[in-house]
Amino acid sequence: MIHTHAYAMLQPLAESMKAQHLKELFAQDSERFKPFHLEKEGLLFDFSKQKINTEIIDELLNLATEQQLDTWIERLFNGDKINHTENRAAWHTALRDVSSPNPEVAKQWRKMESLVNQVHQKQFRGYSGKPILDIINIGVGGSDLGPLMVTHALDKDKHEHAPDVHFVSTLDAQQLHKLLKRLDPATTLFVVASKSFATIDTLSLADTAKEWIEAHAPNQEVVMNHFVGISTNPTKMSKWGILLRHQLIFWEWVGGRFSLWSTIGFSIALRLGMQGYNDMLAGAHAMDQHFKQTPFKQNIPVLLGLIGVWNTNFLNLSAQAILPYDSRLKYFASYLEQLEMESNGKRTKRDGTAITYRTCPILWGEVGPNAQHAFYQLLHQGTERVMSDFILFSQGVSQPDRDRDRENYHHNLNIANCLAQSRAMMSGDANEDLHKDYPGDQVSNTLLLKKLDAYHLGMLVALYEHKVFVQSVIWDINPFDQWGVELGKKLAVDIFEHIKAQSVDDLDSSTANLLKNIWKQRHEN
Ligand code: F6P
Repeated sequence: MIHTHAYAMLQPLAESMKAQHLKELFAQDSERFKPFHLEKEGLLFDFSKQKINTEIIDELLNLATEQQLDTWIERLFNGDKINHTENRAAWHTALRDVSSPNPEVAKQWRKMESLVNQVHQKQFRGYSGKPILDIINIGVGGSDLGPLMVTHALDKDKHEHAPDVHFVSTLDAQQLHKLLKRLDPATTLFVVASKSFATIDTLSLADTAKEWIEAHAPNQEVVMNHFVGISTNPTKMSKWGILLRHQLIFWEWVGGRFSLWSTIGFSIALRLGMQGYNDMLAGAHAMDQHFKQTPFKQNIPVLLGLIGVWNTNFLNLSAQAILPYDSRLKYFASYLEQLEMESNGKRTKRDGTAITYRTCPILWGEVGPNAQHAFYQLLHQGTERVMSDFILFSQGVSQPDRDRDRENYHHNLNIANCLAQSRAMMSGDANEDLHKDYPGDQVSNTLLLKKLDAYHLGMLVALYEHKVFVQSVIWDINPFDQWGVELGKKLAVDIFEHIKAQSVDDLDSSTANLLKNIWKQRHEN
C-alpha cells in the first residue's frame, strides 16, 4: 500500500483535512449529503460526516485499483484458494447463491431442512417419545456468534412452530448449568456446532450435556437422539457419538466467522424456519451481486472499506464504534468484533514480511441508546478520536393497532437520538468553560435500512464481510486465517497439566504465584 502512487497523493490531502473541522465541510457545501451517500434496495449509506472530499474519494479509489481490488474480488467469487496460509478458498459467497447451488451444498441444505421440519412437526422425538421443545446450541466464536446474533435480531419473525433456542459458549459451563436446571432433558436437543470438532470449549460443554442426558435416559441407545452435530469433520463427529442421520456437514472453504451461511445456521433455521433462513441468504446474495458488479465509485462495501482505511492510515484513528439504534441488534457488535478483528488484526503481509502501517482498529460497540448513557462521554469529550458506524431502521417493530401510537412515539425518540448523536459528534458545541465544551469533529457513517428483517440483515452482514475483505486487500493481508489464537490454546493445555499435577515447575513467576494463590484461596471461606 505504502508504495502506491495513490498513497503518496493521499498523505498531503490528509494533512490539510486534519486542519479542517467537519462542520466547516458542511458549511462549505449545504448539499454535502448528495455526493457522499449511496443507496441500494432499502439500504442507504451516508458518509457525508466523514472528513473527505471528492479528491480524497478519487484517490482512495485509485488506491483500490493499484492494489488490484478487482482481481481479488474475482478470485474471492471464483473460489480460488486465497487463504494461502491454509491452502483454502474462502467461498462463503457460494453458500448464498441459492439459484445455482453446488450439489454438495444442496444436499446439506436438504438434510438441514428435513431436520428442521421434523422438529417443527413434532416428529423429532427424545428418549421418552416426547417431541423436542428446546434447542441448546453449543459452540463458540463463529459457531455461536452468527446464529446468536441473528436469532436474537429476528425473534419477532420466528416460525410458528419454532422451539426455544438457547446458546451456550462459555467454558466455565455457567450458562449451560443454568439451562440444565430448568429444562426437561426429555424434550431438549443439543446442537454441537464446531467447524473443527476439536475446540475444547465446545467439546467439554458437549460432554457435560451428554452426561446430563445419560443420567435421565432409560438406556444408552437413546442418548444420541438428543444430539445433532455440525462440523467439517464427520469422522470426529462419529467418534464422539453423533448419529450419521444427525450429522450436518460443511466445508474447509467456509471460514468459522463466515459460517452462519452454512449448516452452522441450523439454529437460525430452527427458529425462523427455512423461509426466514433463505430470505437471509437472499439478502446476502443481493449484496454479493452489488459488490461484484457495481463500479467502485458506487460500490457500498468498497466505499465503506476505503473510508475505514482513510481514517485508520491517514487520519490516524485507532478505534471504531458500532452503534445500532435497535435493541434487536444487541449482539451485532460482538459479531463484528470477531469478523473484523479476527480477520484483519494482523501484522504480516501475504508475502510473509512485516507490515509497517496500521491495520484493523479496535472495534467495540453497544446498542446506541444504552451506549449514550455509558461511553458516549468519551466520544464527545475524550482525547481519543473514534470513527463510529450508526445503524438505524426507518420502520420500527409493528405492534397490534392499539399500540401503534406508543410504538411510533418510542421509534421517533430512538431516531431523534441517533441523528442527534451523529450530529453532535460532527458539529460539537463550543463553550468557554472547557468542562462544557464539545469539540465535535468526530467522524461517522450512518447505515439506514428500511427495516430489520431477514433480507436486510443478510445484506448488512454481507456488507461488513465485504468491507473487511476490501480492507484486507488494501492492507495486503490474508483475512481468512487466525494463527494468532493458537498460542493461548497451546499454553492452556500446558497449564491445565500443571493444575492436574499441582505443580508450578517451569512456569514464569507470575503464572506460578497466581496458581499458588488460586489453590490457597480455593480452600478459604
Ligand atoms: O479460536 C478461534 C476459532 O478458531 C474461531 O476462528 C472459530 O470461529 C472458533 O474458534 C470456533 O471454532 P470451531 O468452530 O472449530 O469450534
